[in-house]
Amino acid sequence: MATNRTFTMIKPDAVENGHIGGILSMITEAGFRIVSLKLTQLTTADAKAFYAVHSERPFYGELVEFMSRGPIVAAILEKDNAVEEFRKLIGATNPADAVEGTIRKKYATSVGENAVHGSDSDENAKIEGDFFFN
Ligand code: CMP
Repeated sequence: MATNRTFTMIKPDAVENGHIGGILSMITEAGFRIVSLKLTQLTTADAKAFYAVHSERPFYGELVEFMSRGPIVAAILEKDNAVEEFRKLIGATNPADAVEGTIRKKYATSVGENAVHGSDSDENAKIEGDFFFN
């Protein structure tokens, strides 16, 4: 059964470009409640650990460098069926494929620098939330 929590990060590109407020507005206007929230910065080791599942992918090095280059906002969000609902709100990984009205359509610039993260399962939402809020 679906839980009602998911985990998100506003990534360094979106923070650098001044989009924290705009993205948080889209999140709350979509009916998510912010349970936990913090501005922080990943070390290289943190980013490697968070994205360990992608360590064999060709873009892993680029991803780790990007995610640790500046501040991010980490948050736990609550809504019915949160994981699935939030993935609809953020849109496709590649902003070129993201539909109108999604966060990535509005704020992402490329498949690598795609503004926001959203957990892909209830299990990962718990693991990822615990990574930042313990
Ligand atoms: P996200 O889905 O939040 O988590 C995995 C991240 O890897 C993804 O966002 C992108 O930031 C990044 N990513 C996925 N595919 C590529 C790619 N082809 N090239 C560069 N980065 C990618």
